[in-house]
Amino acid sequence: MYRYDDRDHAIISERVAQFRNQTERYLSGELSEEEFLPLRLQNGLYIQRLAPMLRVAIPYGLLNSAQLSRLARISRDYDKGYAHFTTRQNLQFNWPQLEDVPDILAELAEVEMHAVQTSGNCIRNTTSDPYAGVARDEIADPRPYCELIRQWSTFHPEFAFLPRKFKIAVNGAESDRAAIRVHDIGVQIVERDGEIGFAIYVGGGQGRTPVIAELIRDFLPEQDLLSYLEAIVRVYNQLGRRDNKYKARIKILVKALGAEEFGSRVEREWEQIKDGVDKLTPEALAWAKTFFTAPDYKQFDGAESDTALHAEAAEDRAFSRWLERNTFPHRVPGYRAVKLSTKPTGVPPGDVTDRQLDAIAELADAFSFGEARITHDQNAVLADVEQASLRALWQSARKHGFATPNIGTLTDMICCPGGDYCSLANAKSIPVAEAIQRRFDDMDYLYDLGDLNLNISGCMNACGHHHVGHIGILGVDKKGEEFYQIQLGGSSSESASLAKVLGPSFSRAEVPDVVGKILDLYVEHRHPEELFLDTYQRIGLQPFKEKVYAKAS
Ligand code: HEM
Ligand code: SF4
Repeated sequence: MYRYDDRDHAIISERVAQFRNQTERYLSGELSEEEFLPLRLQNGLYIQRLAPMLRVAIPYGLLNSAQLSRLARISRDYDKGYAHFTTRQNLQFNWPQLEDVPDILAELAEVEMHAVQTSGNCIRNTTSDPYAGVARDEIADPRPYCELIRQWSTFHPEFAFLPRKFKIAVNGAESDRAAIRVHDIGVQIVERDGEIGFAIYVGGGQGRTPVIAELIRDFLPEQDLLSYLEAIVRVYNQLGRRDNKYKARIKILVKALGAEEFGSRVEREWEQIKDGVDKLTPEALAWAKTFFTAPDYKQFDGAESDTALHAEAAEDRAFSRWLERNTFPHRVPGYRAVKLSTKPTGVPPGDVTDRQLDAIAELADAFSFGEARITHDQNAVLADVEQASLRALWQSARKHGFATPNIGTLTDMICCPGGDYCSLANAKSIPVAEAIQRRFDDMDYLYDLGDLNLNISGCMNACGHHHVGHIGILGVDKKGEEFYQIQLGGSSSESASLAKVLGPSFSRAEVPDVVGKILDLYVEHRHPEELFLDTYQRIGLQPFKEKVYAKAS
């Protein structure tokens, strides 16, 4: 777990006091709207359609139970009793009062949290695999590197005013569960001749111009991580466009220069700084790793524990379905990681109530060494659960509405807040999610379809990752009316791809039927056990187009 030292505490407390003063001056009219804007953005505060929106940083999604309970209390005392998990492992409050925000920040500071750099043109929260440290396919735990990046990037004076916001993700496993190829920088941990290093991807992103990142270095030694990142961000800071907001992201610069030229500029910059202050000493690396030592695992006979679990599952169909979909293999015998689903039908994906936040804290204390993680797909993970306790955990999770056994299926969709909250929206997205969940509520059908990502965004900013959904839905505005464009074939995994537009958009009422037709065609064409994305890649867009736009005869 990350933790603050005395200096961190002092800096964050000073920041809260500073923002309190700025807010007071704004409320008394001493600061204009224009003057207050950059000040509030530096503290994660947006002004949205109906109310302010405060985004809280959760480093690589990791929280302890005290932090979870505090978030619960804040949502109860200062908001409407719920909060929202985002796709970058952060948390948003949708209804705080502007005058309460300094108090909220003070409450967060007490549990070593803040909202610094969660908006504005700076390096944002670094994200990672929600199964970091426990996944069986892990090459090395990404969290110590995320932590080093956090310390290096937070309050980095040179990178406080970049051309645009900047997002870094680190993945430590063979499977990419951190969507690194749609980030400004994607760091993939690799091993060469027994040594840990990094493959570095640059220039990915979604939004108006979606791009899959390019590899600019296939093996960067461990000690060079920060100096190399510094070189990349420095080249971007110098050469990135500032004249046009939409052309200011690093992806545009990498495209303009070409990945090879961009990479060689980075190498030249790096040559000059690689032996400087950012070089990671063995002591610094060892120190960062002490933040993430293994918890006090018990020793189990793995085979025995598995047999006992299978016997328990065989007696109870509902438990076995949950076990299959919502739990994940663990590197330590006798343990599993558990995903708590925030996606029962009718609840906006990623929304959690104050009671549920408290419940995650209680479950983390009771079952998972007091820690939980927020995931990229807007759920939560308890990473270290004894297999023998899974049934008890499942029963508690059910009581709190967290045990919908739909992880990885069509109804476990990613969805942005859309027109219900967001002032940038072209269309609502939450009612679309709900209509699809209602239409496809037969679990056996969902299991038969297998793993399928459906992602919804209310506008082209792509907060809901529609470009990398196997099925992506994008809200569009047509002469003041809300319509939805369907895209197919995206993926944010290690073989990332961008979805292709199916054709003309649909009204909201038509969307569930269109999804139904797409699924029917997949079921018609798939080979046994073939997943949706594989069938799509084999047969291409055209048959889906023909099916969906066929004229009724
Ligand atoms: C209502 C508050 C929100 C506002 C005002 C907002 C605003 C934006 C804007 C303006 C962009 C486009 C920036 C760009 O890439 O050029 C963006 C992108 C993005 N936002 Fe949001 N957003 C909001 C909520 C969320 C939520 C709830 C999530 C997670 C569910 C999220 C995650 C993202 C992601 C992942 C991107 C894509 C960036 C990329 O890949 O390049 N945002 N957002
Ligand atoms: S995708 Fe658009 S509508 Fe959705 S949260 Fe982002 S900016 Fe708002």
